[in-house]
Amino acid sequence: MAAPLPAARAVANATGDAPSAPAREPLARLAQVGKTFQNGVEALRAVDLEIRRGEFLSLLGPSGCGKSTILRLLAGLANPSLGRIDWPATEHDLGFVFQEPTLMPWANVFDNVWLPLRLQGQSRATARPRVEEALAQVGLSGFDRAYPRELSGGMKMRASIARALATRPALLLMDEPFAALDEITRMKLNDDLVALKCELNATVVFVTHSVFESVYLSDRIVVMAPRPGRVVAEVAVPAPQPRNEDFRLRAEYAELCRETSRALHRAMGAEPAGGETGSQ
Ligand SMILES: Nc1ncnc2c1ncn2[C@@H]1O[C@H](COP(=O)(O)OP(=O)(O)OP(=O)(O)O)[C@@H](O)[C@H]1O
Ligand SMILES: [Mg+2]
Repeated sequence: MAAPLPAARAVANATGDAPSAPAREPLARLAQVGKTFQNGVEALRAVDLEIRRGEFLSLLGPSGCGKSTILRLLAGLANPSLGRIDWPATEHDLGFVFQEPTLMPWANVFDNVWLPLRLQGQSRATARPRVEEALAQVGLSGFDRAYPRELSGGMKMRASIARALATRPALLLMDEPFAALDEITRMKLNDDLVALKCELNATVVFVTHSVFESVYLSDRIVVMAPRPGRVVAEVAVPAPQPRNEDFRLRAEYAELCRETSRALHRAMGAEPAGGETGSQ
């Protein structure tokens, strides 16, 4: 059983505490994590960050502030130079969605999604129900025989998400997955991701540069600053999930975008002109 939640290490909480929100069990906990690469670049310094089961957490910050480095540390693709990462929960399997869909061009959609199951030793026949389920979850039923070159950018990203879901991971790490997509496709995938996350009750750590996207998707936004990469603010988004397009029109959404934008500007060492962010 996991240890009780430690007191949140605050940084600024732009929306104040939400005492009515249920405390969630921690899935992973970064404690004073630092990462310095061999070339001397200090990518992260003293990062304290808790990832709570079932939450949608966004990492928001300017280029080079260490967002991808945090995902890579969580995925075990790199090790911290300082501090440690604890996994209080017993199971912590994860799926990784990269910024580029990174599908194998010579393999069809089925084989691409089968890959992580195949690496676990599952035959094509054994894996078939799980692959088909993952494809259905991202709206790609019937495209299993298509090759990546036959898919649109949004469909490739869906296939990439299906691949990450194939093993039913407890934790989904997503590194700016929609950055290369047009605005309409991106908004549609945002909605689909929110619905999917609720259906699976998954935990998601999502990297983005977009204030609007982070507020729309997240239960909590962690704002980071660069040189060295560190956590400087946290914004809670208390609106219930799943959200839909109506949420984008609400005053609450606009206010949270403003607060998050201010936190981001502070992280970049600048105040926004007039404190306005515009709207989406
Ligand atoms: N393998 C590496 N070797 C050396 N330096 C690295 C390595 N990976 C990342 N860095 C440096 O660490 C810092 C953080 O990089 P990271 O990729 O985590 O940033 P990021 O916040 O994801 O940026 P972006 O938004 O541009 O993707 C940057 O200064 C980067 O140059
Ligand atoms: Mg990155």
